[in-house]
Amino acid sequence: MSAPSLRQCPPEQGAEVAFAGRSNAGKSSAINALTNNSKLARTSKTPGRTQLINFFDLTPDQRLVDLPGYGYAKVPMAMKNEWQKNLSEYIQKRQCLRGLILMMDIRHPMQEYDTMMLNWAIEMELPVHILLTKADKLKKGPANSTLHKVRQHLADAEVDDLVSAQLFSSLKKTGVKELEAVLNNLLAP
Ligand code: GTP
Ligand code: MG
Repeated sequence: MSAPSLRQCPPEQGAEVAFAGRSNAGKSSAINALTNNSKLARTSKTPGRTQLINFFDLTPDQRLVDLPGYGYAKVPMAMKNEWQKNLSEYIQKRQCLRGLILMMDIRHPMQEYDTMMLNWAIEMELPVHILLTKADKLKKGPANSTLHKVRQHLADAEVDDLVSAQLFSSLKKTGVKELEAVLNNLLAP
């Protein structure tokens, strides 16, 4: 089901993990790669495709949540403020939220809004797993060096107990197993 804001979300039952990231980072594609269903979450070349909070039931008590992408420049200011309010409210108040998968295009990691989302989650002591997405766009060396920099940044900020990171590509299915293990942990009863 889909909800425009926290108020319309399904009941607080069981556990869920949410996928967040800038518009076009590849959130919907990752959910499709994970579930082996290329049509489950709608993907698009147009940023801002996912505008509602979309819930996907894995079991009656385990859900994946596709959040609206943020940071898309061509969206009117009023709509940006509305999204920001909805996202912060969801992260801060959703009791059954067990963790956040924070997706960033490997070519532009840790942008302003990513840091904002990360800080909201850290304030709530919510575990975050960063996916450096579209890893297929870089050669192995540069991809690994970006991952190393992001991990170093987390260690320097002393948040590496709560925040982890990995490479990911929906296209090449890189890192799917690693992500599955993280999700199983977060969603464990
Ligand atoms: P919004 O719903 O707008 O926030 O976007 P999203 O984060 O859900 O992104 P989506 O999954 O719709 O993907 C955006 C674009 O990136 C699409 O054209 C995808 O085909 C492409 N894309 C997604 N994942 C990958 C990947 O791993 N590699 C490459 N090369 N392209 C990808
Ligand atoms: Mg989407």
